[in-house]
Amino acid sequence: MALNTAVILAAGAGTRMKSKIPKVLHKVCGLSMIESVIKEVKSSHIENIIVVIGNGAEAVEEELSDMNVSFVLQKEQLGTGHAVLQAKDSIPDSGDVIVLCGDMPLITQETIKAFMRYHKENNHDISILTAELENPFGYGRIVKDDNGLVNKIVEQKDASEDELLIKEVNSGVYCFKAGILKKHLADIDNRNAQNEYYLTDLIEIGVRNKYDIGAFSLSDPKEIMGVNSRKQLAEAESLMRQRIVEKLMESGVSFIDTSNCYIDKEVEVGMDTVIYPGVILKGKTIIGENCIIGQNSRIENGTIEDNVKIQSSVIIDSIVRKGTNIGPFAYLRPGSSIGQNVKIGDFVEVKNASIGDGSKASHLAYIGDAEVGKNVNIGCGVIFVNYDGKNKNKITVEDDAFIGSNVNLIAPVTVRKRGFVAAGTTVTLEVPDGALCIGREKQKHIKNWVDRKKIKE
Ligand code: UD1
Ligand code: CA
Repeated sequence: MALNTAVILAAGAGTRMKSKIPKVLHKVCGLSMIESVIKEVKSSHIENIIVVIGNGAEAVEEELSDMNVSFVLQKEQLGTGHAVLQAKDSIPDSGDVIVLCGDMPLITQETIKAFMRYHKENNHDISILTAELENPFGYGRIVKDDNGLVNKIVEQKDASEDELLIKEVNSGVYCFKAGILKKHLADIDNRNAQNEYYLTDLIEIGVRNKYDIGAFSLSDPKEIMGVNSRKQLAEAESLMRQRIVEKLMESGVSFIDTSNCYIDKEVEVGMDTVIYPGVILKGKTIIGENCIIGQNSRIENGTIEDNVKIQSSVIIDSIVRKGTNIGPFAYLRPGSSIGQNVKIGDFVEVKNASIGDGSKASHLAYIGDAEVGKNVNIGCGVIFVNYDGKNKNKITVEDDAFIGSNVNLIAPVTVRKRGFVAAGTTVTLEVPDGALCIGREKQKHIKNWVDRKKIKE
């Protein structure tokens, strides 16, 4: 029977986080915890995903709006059993249902698939994903009888002294035959230390009804880590970071210091690229092969092609094509498209501008709202004056033009092909093809001025 529905619990308050943001929206390596869980579930070929929301429902729904999941509202957070009960009418009568928590960002599709396989191959009515923890504090404990069969799950706050010694814990992930889950959800009561409707009570109910219950113990307990506090959030972040770096190394990426770079979960990096310390790669960044991502660079949603060198620079929502050098201390703001074999040097800021192949802006320039052609030289101190106080206007510099140092190009204006603008010029009119544009006071000399000035003093 195909396992076809997932119910993900994400309504809880997350009181222990001490936050105004709903717990499941806190991020681990760039992805909210709930998004991480959903992505792993989706990759396990489960199409029907129901998310139970409550606390901060609007914000959670908004965050997941393009993920093609359905939502069920749990108005009051009366416990995990009550949460699943709210989804009852949305769960089909046949097939299997996997229940997961939205606060376990380290769970992987491999584990979800293996767990589903275990549930199906053993034809269990209920399966529990468990793990042995050195320090099981806070988790529900798996209580087994002398034959090793699961008897019940007991919560930390309800456990006897003997039960607290048990190291096998409940991950909060379960598989149920849909019919059985739906039949017994309403049997759960709230007679326990927290007066909550515990989903975990279904195990005892299942035992009473002689259902076949299995526990699938994970070899890597890190995956089931639930995040309830800032400390656990930081732990999850660190574990995820390690996992990301290891995966990249397996695919041929080098790191100078694996403990000192911060790469989001969805970032891609090509073979033979070397990542230096202090690098932050965020969002949907894609980096090609054989690049050097130098010290303290931050790239957010950047596309960097092969053989690019970047040093101590910030790149946001921009593209850098093959063989280009960026930095040190360059700032590519959103909408920048830098061609092949370009040089963007120190203290150059580019915003919403395209720069053609082979062009150079080696130092101290601002290039905003512009289209710069191929093999253009932009001298030191050039300013693309794009803003007149009201509107942003466009500047075009065509192929092979030369913009001398300390030039102001006042938008809107165009420098045609091979136009040559002399240093210190303020350009307000179109520069014709191949023309010299020089617009500065003619130099004059006042003889003996220095000596005369001295006498006056
Ligand atoms: C739960 C389990 C515990 C397990 C642990 C694993 C129960 C009773 N206990 O405990 O056995 O070891 O997870 O991490 O299930 N939620 C709702 N609605 C609610 C309450 C919770 O949607 O009314 C959601 C939360 O948003 C969260 C998840 O359910 O994503 C788990 O809730 P949480 O309060 O963190 O449960 P734990 O105490 O950690
Ligand atoms: Ca939890």
